[in-house]
Amino acid sequence: MFQLPRVMGHRGAAGDAPENTLVSLRTAAEQGARWVEFDVMLSGDGVPVLFHDDSLKRTTGRDALMADTPLASLRKLEAGAWFAPKFAGEPIPTLEDALSFLLSSGISPNVEIKPSKGKAAATGRAVAEVMARCWPLERAPALICSFYKEGLAAAQRIAPQVPRAFLMRRPARDWRQTAKKLECSTIHVGGRWLSARVAQEIKQAGYGSAVFTVNDPKRARLLLARGVDCIITDAPGKIAAALD
Ligand code: G3P
Ligand code: MG
Repeated sequence: MFQLPRVMGHRGAAGDAPENTLVSLRTAAEQGARWVEFDVMLSGDGVPVLFHDDSLKRTTGRDALMADTPLASLRKLEAGAWFAPKFAGEPIPTLEDALSFLLSSGISPNVEIKPSKGKAAATGRAVAEVMARCWPLERAPALICSFYKEGLAAAQRIAPQVPRAFLMRRPARDWRQTAKKLECSTIHVGGRWLSARVAQEIKQAGYGSAVFTVNDPKRARLLLARGVDCIITDAPGKIAAALD
């Protein structure tokens, strides 16, 4: 079975640093996380970058869509000040920037394909191309994950060697068929919705399991007791300390 860590940072360490930035990845590493999840979208000119929302507004202040904004314009924005003044000036990283930082820190990436409308396959393709080129799996494991079947299918075609995770907020009835077809290694479910029964079914079917996004230590303990392998959290340091 695929080896997931017990605790994984969410969007880096989104509780303590601006999500999906290099400083957030660094903060997760400083808190002891060995794996981080982050979201990847395509810029208007097709470059995979770390970002969560369709709109740039919430984290950069710019009233425009990611899908309409080329990388050169994204480079003029900053995505840190909204979180706290001390992070002002923090740029939107490309996927390549993030992987090179993680590789040098010995941290594994869980790269979420987060498409703008209608771009699931294109985003999956671009993520898989960069992963195949920039991530040496023999040095450290990695995952590509998505809620979007077309995104995972594109990744499966382009970089079948990079393990895949199927995401579901609530367990879907047909998760087994999907996971089988897309040859997934792990299944990640919303922590609020994962019952003991489904946790056991996932385990018995031979998949690793993770839950997102769990920031309450009590809930984390309960989910681990149900047989979940990995807690994806905004506060990897705090959750790991509470579980020890
Ligand atoms: O990895 C799963 C989790 O990140 C999905 O939710 O919206 O935070 O990307 P979201
Ligand atoms: Mg995500």
